[in-house]
Amino acid sequence: MTQASDRGLPGTRPEGVTDEREAAAQVREMFGRIAPRYDLLNHLLSLDVDKMWRRRVAKRFSVILRDPQARVLDLCCGTGDLAFAFRKQAPRGAQITGSDFVPQMLVRARAKAAASGATVDFVEADALALPFDDASFDLVSCAFGFRNLANYERGLREIHRVLKPGGSIAILEFAEPPGKIFGALYRFYFRDVLPRLGGWISGNTSAYSYLPRSVSKFPSPELLQQEFQRAGFFGVQFQRWTGGIVTVHTGRK
Ligand SMILES: C[S@@+](CC[C@H](N)C(=O)[O-])C[C@H]1O[C@@H](n2cnc3c(N)ncnc32)[C@H](O)[C@@H]1O
Repeated sequence: MTQASDRGLPGTRPEGVTDEREAAAQVREMFGRIAPRYDLLNHLLSLDVDKMWRRRVAKRFSVILRDPQARVLDLCCGTGDLAFAFRKQAPRGAQITGSDFVPQMLVRARAKAAASGATVDFVEADALALPFDDASFDLVSCAFGFRNLANYERGLREIHRVLKPGGSIAILEFAEPPGKIFGALYRFYFRDVLPRLGGWISGNTSAYSYLPRSVSKFPSPELLQQEFQRAGFFGVQFQRWTGGIVTVHTGRK
């Protein structure tokens, strides 16, 4: 797992890449390629548990979501599932926005919104340079996207900037489960089974071997908690869900 430096945590680097811009370009290209099968694989490889995780995040922030004035941003929204989970909890006036830097993901998100009648704005944007004013949102979330950012410190500072004072951050990410037996079983599935299945169904083996690699390099929950505090958040906490397969990090501006 990554160690903290005095200058904060660098972000993800695909195999053999050192440059930040090149890392972001490769991540963007990879998600563009897997976008057509993204939903199918997500639900299949997680046996649909991913839907429960997103619902659980939405439930946790129901107080914010129930406010008709609420403004909520779901970063790295992919095909929009967390934004749709928020929409279900929120009254009409509440404004839900999803943003992602891969147009192919947003095409699918918008098609899903049109098919279901859900009112969510989908905006193409890089999470490291958001096109939103300071202090715009009551809640900023990111599900399984933060790990892919090329600079974690900048990602957190950008979230902090666009949150209103008192606003909340929620980051849902994969983690390595701590339990001995469950951890070993999970690692076998995650490192040996999932990349093969994912590669076979998506036709993109590298994307699904990047997944376990990026999770193993991702900062531990404790380290990420420090990074949240360093970015200026208070009341920072994390909780492990489903035996520690995922961790939800929360805090306030
Ligand atoms: C694993 S998917 C998660 C999608 C969605 N949040 C979900 O829960 O299914 C990661 C998403 O992060 C997006 N992403 C990665 N880096 C990004 C960045 N710098 N700016 C915006 N989106 C980014 C990718 O395009 C991809 O859609």
